[in-house]
Amino acid sequence: MKETALVTGGGGFIGSHIVDTLVEMEFNVISLDNESAESNEQFYKNGRAKNVFVDICDAERVKETFERVKPDYVFHLAAESRIQPTLERPQKACEVNFLGTCNLLQASRESGVKRFMYSSTSSAYGLKNESPQREDMHRDCLNPYSVTKVAAEDLCKMYHSLWGVPTVIFRYFNVYGERQPINGEYAPVVGIFLRQKAAGEVITIVGDGKQRRDFTHVKDVVSANILAALSPSSEILGEIFNIGTGTNDSVIEIAEMIGGERSFLPKRPGEAAVTLADNSKARNLLGWNPTIYLKDWINENK
Ligand SMILES: NC(=O)c1ccc[n+]([C@@H]2O[C@H](COP(=O)([O-])OP(=O)(O)OC[C@H]3O[C@@H](n4cnc5c(N)ncnc54)[C@H](O)[C@@H]3O)[C@@H](O)[C@H]2O)c1
Repeated sequence: MKETALVTGGGGFIGSHIVDTLVEMEFNVISLDNESAESNEQFYKNGRAKNVFVDICDAERVKETFERVKPDYVFHLAAESRIQPTLERPQKACEVNFLGTCNLLQASRESGVKRFMYSSTSSAYGLKNESPQREDMHRDCLNPYSVTKVAAEDLCKMYHSLWGVPTVIFRYFNVYGERQPINGEYAPVVGIFLRQKAAGEVITIVGDGKQRRDFTHVKDVVSANILAALSPSSEILGEIFNIGTGTNDSVIEIAEMIGGERSFLPKRPGEAAVTLADNSKARNLLGWNPTIYLKDWINENK
């Protein structure tokens, strides 16, 4: 019999790629989303998945959904997923990113899932940590997005240590690729620059553009999720894994790769200067390796 995978945020950027891959792998796939993301051009629906419209903050609906679909695997991506909007609405970030995750963990505990993959963020490392960033460094959360995403990591760890829910936690470093959000000023930088270039507009760089990010292709994020779901190892449970390439580029360098006229916008509060993943834990324990690098991808897609 086919196994069932539930992907929260399955209509969004990363979640939709996970849905497509699981469908190709012949899982019975449930994509759960409330279509609330503001930066997304559209919400993706794979015709071979079952798409359900549920808010993860609604504990009863979440519980009902789990009772109905009985997922073997949960890939949890639904979130208030951009930093700047959470500065405007911190309570919403707490509700969705913390309480929403708790609702899913509780439903997973009650229904006995085989594995629960949680999507956290490299913004856990903030400004205080040296590069490259390792999972055992102190957290330095600079904004409500980071605080709430990292607080939910603790929930995942606790559900594992206290109740044996088999959780795995990822910290993704800036994810880019096909279907990346491009709407508005708070979409991720690669998407905004490509949109501006395609429209013949000036490319807008925030701050001095010297901030460096480890840009990770969405396909490499998908492969980390699949490896963790199917890994026979119990060593990975309750553990955090950096998912980043171990290389980084400055925002100015990306603008140069894309080409065209540039202008500068004021620096934004609450954002880190450098992200760079030490990905040795994911390489060693998950057998994960990055396969796509930003420069090559931009050369093929600009
Ligand atoms: N994109 C990145 O660079 C990056 C980096 C680190 C971590 N992450 C994490 O990865 C996950 C996916 O990010 P993404 O870039 O695909 O974002 P996204 O905004 O494209 O996807 C999130 C999806 O969740 C849905 N959603 C939001 N609130 C919901 C709710 N209350 N109930 C149900 N669905 C809801 C949205 O409608 C959206 O489709 C997020 O958890 C994010 O924090 C992303």
